[in-house]
Amino acid sequence: MSLAGAREALARLVRDVPDYPEPGVVFKDITPLLADHTGLAAVVAGLAHAGRDEAGRPVVDVVVGMEARGFILGAPVALALGAGFVPVRKAGKLPRETHAVSYDLEYGSATLEMHTDAVGAGSRVLLVDDVLATGGTARATVDLVERCGAEVVGVAVLMDLAFLPWREALGDVAVTTLMSVGAEPSLDAP
Ligand code: PRP
Ligand code: MG
Repeated sequence: MSLAGAREALARLVRDVPDYPEPGVVFKDITPLLADHTGLAAVVAGLAHAGRDEAGRPVVDVVVGMEARGFILGAPVALALGAGFVPVRKAGKLPRETHAVSYDLEYGSATLEMHTDAVGAGSRVLLVDDVLATGGTARATVDLVERCGAEVVGVAVLMDLAFLPWREALGDVAVTTLMSVGAEPSLDAP
């Protein structure tokens, strides 16, 4: 399955929802994409591409997905790569000893956690989520994986919001994004 197929599926099946969750924001609804077998298979294959070498061989041991939408995409990507899946969860959900990383939101902060023994030292890890916006979620997850002594091979997402500073947040971490959502329209544009 080609990257072009994944991009075609995103263009066809992601719905723009204006003024959600607040006025002025255009929400990208991926539920029609998830509900379409061909589309879902195409984007899972496209994301898994980030975990393969040039010959198509898997180069990751573990896929990490971030609660909640990263769970939906990360587990099938792990299966496609012959890898295991590890969840990164919002604070207070994991039952055993965890690493925790907090990061700033527009208002307040959020904390993500991962079991301390979830990823072995030296493991090669691919992070999977739906969207990169500020990059806060992905940055915190990179930090959690590195606390385990594992190596982040890359971050793979369906789409990035090009007008937000996710690239700066992620430094030199390799990023695969299947669709770039362009610059915010200027309010004073003609
Ligand atoms: C959303 C999205 C990404 C994150 C991207 O998750 O699924 O995980 O925001 O934003 P960032 O780059 O600014 O961190 P959110 O926690 O809002 O909701 P979810 O539980 O539905 O995934
Ligand atoms: Mg999320």
